[in-house]
Formats: sequence, structure tokens, C-alpha cells
Amino acid sequence: MNAPIVSFNHVGKSFDVDGVELEAIREFSLDIAEGEFVAIVGSSGCGKSTLLRLLVGLDTQFRGQITVDGTAVTGIGSERGIVFQEHRLFPWLTVEDNIGLGLVNEPLSAEQKHQRIGDFIELVGLTDFIRAYPHQLSGGMAQRVAIARGLVASPRILLLDEPFGALDALTRQQMQDELLAIRARAKITTVLVTHDVEEAIFLADRVVVMEPRPGRIKQVVDIALPHPRQRSNFDFHQLREELLHELTSDDHYQPSGPVQIHDLPLSFIAC
Ligand SMILES: Nc1ncnc2c1ncn2[C@@H]1O[C@H](COP(=O)(O)OP(=O)(O)O)[C@@H](O)[C@H]1O
Ligand SMILES: [Mg+2]
Repeated sequence: MNAPIVSFNHVGKSFDVDGVELEAIREFSLDIAEGEFVAIVGSSGCGKSTLLRLLVGLDTQFRGQITVDGTAVTGIGSERGIVFQEHRLFPWLTVEDNIGLGLVNEPLSAEQKHQRIGDFIELVGLTDFIRAYPHQLSGGMAQRVAIARGLVASPRILLLDEPFGALDALTRQQMQDELLAIRARAKITTVLVTHDVEEAIFLADRVVVMEPRPGRIKQVVDIALPHPRQRSNFDFHQLREELLHELTSDDHYQPSGPVQIHDLPLSFIAC
């Protein structure tokens, strides 16, 4: 692999919760190549959002080191854009102004900003909605605006924290297709956090499976399936079963013996 664009070296993170230390991430090490699409999957609470917050530079208190292009991350920077699960659009701003928030720190003239925003509205297919307000948009459209805002400063790395988690299944699949189309046009290194194994396999070049308490890497899986990927394909199905098994198997789990019918609650037997 060429020099990685992103490198996590032995990253650890703990929170102080009422004087008790909570270890959220332990010894997370991962190199990400330029242009690569990495998905991080894991159950709720295994440190996925925390990892993205560290990479985007919103939290600088951690162990180990994170580098972007060989330089240690010490705060936010315009080469990294982030999209959160809830679109976080401001209801009193138009689509154009919400996207423009992604450019507040850019040394561009008003005319250049207007031009750039127009380009990205087009990229996400919302040119007709440039003057609309968030309440006039569907969930999928609002999330596209959030993606445009994450991309408008032309970051080299796009970070997505469960960006489609709140959408219905059909819209989610459409957004996944669109994300791949956007990536094909704007070659951008992408790190997606999701709890949806199928989404990870559909989109990513590599899937990092996390295990919880503390959050750490359980396995890294290469997804060699060609695009466009078919969810109904046999290899796709196999991979999904394998990854689901990885996610749900717990090495420390010791079954206490076969379950007897009389061990089950009455309500269970009744149905
Ligand atoms: N600001 C915080 N203060 C205390 N604990 C936190 C904070 N942020 C996250 N945590 C804890 O760290 C762990 C990982 O959280 P998070 O990164 O949000 O997980 P995920 O995104 O995988 O659901 C959880 O146990 C969560 O409660
Ligand atoms: Mg999260």
C-alpha cells in the first residue's frame, strides 16, 4: 500500500463518567489508503462515533496517534468533512445557506462560494431546491443536503456517521447508490460508520468489525465483490452471514447448558 492518507496508531480513548473511567476504545490501529472506502461496523456503544470524532478533530484527548497525510490530527481541518446521522440542518436557513455553512472557514469570495454551492447542489441532484427550507424536504433530500455540506469544502476525506440510519429501507438503498455515484465523480477517501452489515458490504472496499466494551477491532475483511454489487448475489449473501456471525458471536459467552422448556417464562411458551 502507498503511504496511507489516514493512519490510526494504537488509539485509545477513555471517558470520565461520574469519576469512573470508561474505556471506550482500546488499541485501535488502522491504515486507510487514498481513495479507499472503509466501513466500520459494530453494535451500539462500541465506539464508532467516538472514532470519527477523533479523526475529524472534535476531540483531541486520546491515547496513541492519528495522522492525515503523515501529520498528526490536532483539531478540525477542511480536508476532512463529516456527515452525521441526523442531518443537523438549520431550519431557518435555506438549502443554499445550510450547504454554505461548510464553507465558513474557506478563503473564497461570495461569488466563488455561490458557484461552489451550486456545483454541489447539482452533485446531489437538488438544484430545484436551492431556495427551499429543511421542512420542505423529505428525509432523503435533507440527508443529501447534509452530504453536500460535508463535501462542499472539497475535503479529501469524507466521514459518515450512520448517515442513512434514520431513513426508510427504500430511500436508504437509493442513497447508498447515490453515495457510490458521488464517489465515482469526486474520488474521495471515505470512512463510513454503520451498524448495518449489508450497507457496509454493499459500499465498502474493506469492513472493520468492532467488538464492544471496550471498543476494539475484531476483524478486518476485504470486500472483493465487483461493483455494482447485488444484494441477492450468493457471495454477497455469504459475506453477510459471515460478518453477522462475527458481530453476534461473543468469545466470552459460555452457554450454561441446554435450555429446558420449563426454564422459559410462561409468556414465551404461551406464544
Ligand atoms: N461524551 C461522552 N461521555 C461519556 N461517555 C461517552 C461519551 N461519548 C461516548 N461515550 C461512551 O463511549 C462508548 C462509545 O460510544 P459511541 O462512540 O457513541 O458508540 P457507537 O457510536 O458505536 O454507538 C459508549 O459506552 C458511550 O456511552
Ligand atoms: Mg454512534
